[in-house]
Amino acid sequence: MRTEDAPDQTPTRLADYRPPAWEVERVSLVFDLAPSATRVRTTIRFRRTGDADELVLDGRKLTLVSAEVDGTDAMERIETHREGLALKGPLPDAFTWTCETEIDPESNTELEGLYLSKGMFCTQCEAEGFRKITYYPDRPDVMTIYDVRIEADVATCPVLLSNGNLVASGDLPGGRHFAEWHDPHPKPSYLFALVAGDLVSADDRFRTASGRDVELKVYVRPGDEGKCAYALDALKRSMRWDEDAYGCEYDLDLFMIVAVDDFNMGAMENKGLNIFNSKYVLASPETATDRDYELIESIIAHEYFHNWTGNRITCRDWFQLCLKEGLTVFRDQQFSAEERSEAVQRIQDVQQLRSRQFREDAGPLAHPVRPEEYIEINNFYTATVYEKGAEVIRMLHTLIGPEAYRKGTDLYFERHDGQACTIEDWIKVFEDATGRDLGQFGLWYRQAGTPRVHMQGEWEEVDGVYTLTLRQEIPETPGQSNKGPHVVPMAVGMLGPDGEEILPTTVLEMTKETQTFRFSSLPAEPVLSVNRGFSAPVLVEREVSDKERAFLLAHDTDPFARWEAGRAYAIDIALRVIGGAPVPDDWTAALGNLLAEETLDPAFKAMALDAPGADEMAAEIHRRGDLVDPDAVDRGLRAMRVALGTSLADSLGTTYQSMAVAGTYTPDAESAAKRALANRCLMLLAEASPVGIALAEQQFERADNMTMSLPALRALVHNEAPGAEAALARFHDVWHGDSLVIDKWLALQASAPGTGTLAGVEALTGHPSFDWTNPNNFRSLVGVFAMANPTGFHATDGAGYRFFADWLIRLDKLNPQTTARMAGAFESWKRYTDDRQTLIRAEMTRIAEVPDLSRNTREIVERMLAA
Ligand code: TRP
Ligand code: ZN
Repeated sequence: MRTEDAPDQTPTRLADYRPPAWEVERVSLVFDLAPSATRVRTTIRFRRTGDADELVLDGRKLTLVSAEVDGTDAMERIETHREGLALKGPLPDAFTWTCETEIDPESNTELEGLYLSKGMFCTQCEAEGFRKITYYPDRPDVMTIYDVRIEADVATCPVLLSNGNLVASGDLPGGRHFAEWHDPHPKPSYLFALVAGDLVSADDRFRTASGRDVELKVYVRPGDEGKCAYALDALKRSMRWDEDAYGCEYDLDLFMIVAVDDFNMGAMENKGLNIFNSKYVLASPETATDRDYELIESIIAHEYFHNWTGNRITCRDWFQLCLKEGLTVFRDQQFSAEERSEAVQRIQDVQQLRSRQFREDAGPLAHPVRPEEYIEINNFYTATVYEKGAEVIRMLHTLIGPEAYRKGTDLYFERHDGQACTIEDWIKVFEDATGRDLGQFGLWYRQAGTPRVHMQGEWEEVDGVYTLTLRQEIPETPGQSNKGPHVVPMAVGMLGPDGEEILPTTVLEMTKETQTFRFSSLPAEPVLSVNRGFSAPVLVEREVSDKERAFLLAHDTDPFARWEAGRAYAIDIALRVIGGAPVPDDWTAALGNLLAEETLDPAFKAMALDAPGADEMAAEIHRRGDLVDPDAVDRGLRAMRVALGTSLADSLGTTYQSMAVAGTYTPDAESAAKRALANRCLMLLAEASPVGIALAEQQFERADNMTMSLPALRALVHNEAPGAEAALARFHDVWHGDSLVIDKWLALQASAPGTGTLAGVEALTGHPSFDWTNPNNFRSLVGVFAMANPTGFHATDGAGYRFFADWLIRLDKLNPQTTARMAGAFESWKRYTDDRQTLIRAEMTRIAEVPDLSRNTREIVERMLAA
């Protein structure tokens, strides 16, 4: 029997959730590994918990070789059933199911289930990949203990790994060997993992708070062992932090990380055996940038933190995904804020939230943090579930305070350890810990759309009274209208005329649609600072003059609000400049003052000097009711950057010199901040004058680390410097064997502005260094072109859209997950001018008409078209 893939577009609904009819008491898996014909023998002890007589198991692309019930052949009693099989009754209340399936890892290009990456066997089971390995109740509320035996060739697979602890290993005849693993912690199937290949490990140890020794191993391909030190260091710091901040201690004697080159996402938290995209493990000063180090640190932390928030306490069903993801993102953000600069971390997190989640929430793919319906669950690993999910927890933290929050999480771990839970369980622990009713707060999980908070202040000079009226409005989103008011924690502060703080940060708790707050006995008319620390994930709408923005940029005592003032100021200016106005001197002067401030963190300066991005402006223009012409946006933003680079040339030059970091490269936040500011100065100078280009040439020549080398190359290429082609070629000569560095080389060219880019990108798709079947490579070239090259992608002849659609259609046959994710580049198509909308609609329709388009891509494209 063979279950074929029948792309089924029927939605799954939260309202239809039913507990499993059979529980699994124990499972054992025996893998006989071979690239194109792997045999999996599965033994499952089932016990009836519901009243169903038949047993339904999930399965996809499996060949069933044999099946038995309590040792008796059961092939005759099996029928195919949707995505799997049904074993017909009558069945006893408890029985042992045994089956053997054959699978073909070599031809598995979806990178889901068991597949091969550069000769190495590896698995990816979240969300529903385990069913591509064997027949199983592949749902997160079925948790059990796993025993795994792996058999493989010694020569090609000297290392054999699975979850838990190694209990036996040895040689077999015919050049084969085996390893047996036992995981004592009950887990759902999506956390199962297996790795087999020619690997080496970088090792370390960690002693837990209660004094247990844990062996740490980072497995990589031979030759990469020198690039694991930072990952190991980040892991140890994460383990310590989780003990201190949440009282969570690691629970096995071994913790393993494996780096693989072909991976659909960032990383995966499989119990005791995390599997990572090699991009988020491997680092050396020569090959990784400061940003890469930062991402490695936060993703290592994220996956490690899942051990408690995700693995020991998991999700009842996939609608509850934010239960583990929103919480774990919030935890990794807290960790990074404590390990580095809190202000810088917050600004970066908000920038990311705005560029990805606000965009999603304002378009056809908008959905609540906890969706109520999906067609393909892989399409719901979104910015909304992850990033907005984290913001919701941050608001809870703000509303109840850190002590009550810790009381709540302690109760969560105590009450729900070993369970598969819901958002209701999560909210209840905080209600019980604080005695507070969080019913209305729960709306944040159910209502999609970014709330807009309109603010109006009034000053009564004679009494020294300031009244602030807030009104919240939640926009309609697909399938949702007429929404109730949220609980909005709005942190505000006030500054006096000389910049002194006259009202320290105060959290206003909004619960109604309209609410007025009164502040009395104020010594002078205040300058209001709002949404400090970005206390709520909302859009604030309020009339603010340029003068007030400049004042806040100079004086706000809340670093986030200070940065935000500068951002809003730049956006206001950009709107006018895009409309044809000149760049005002006041703006460049305000940034000049900031640059001159001696005590300010260079990382903050680097961010404040960053002019708004094209996508940010497109969102803003559309929000104001206009359609976007990306060419006009590009011209306007360029004019702003050139004005900065010209009028501040002297101070940018001296800052550049003073930010030089001497000695050998270290990835610490302090030196990274200096490099960030130096590179910001370089980019502004290079765009404005030949002197800047000469500086970039010099930096490219002298750089001994990727953080300095790559921006210099970007400055040359993006400004079409005479030496750009030669520099690109040299860079390629040095790095052509390193696919992670080649990703940077591809991305840099794909994002280059200028009319020739599409032709260049098309040529690169035929370059020997480009492997389109590798997700990192594909994203770096095709994805970056669509997401980060607005003038090329949105060219009015439609060639950019056509190129992108062609490649999506091509990749969909191999890898639906990555294709669907990337198709989201079209999600904000309604922002653009009519001619562009017509062209995009035609391309999306062309994709939708592909006969055997995957369920993943079909869902995304059809939702976008329905807008
Ligand atoms: N759970 C993983 C995380 O957040 C992400 C994940 C979900 C994933 N599905 C995946 C990773 C598929 C790789 C492939 O860390
Ligand atoms: Zn996660």
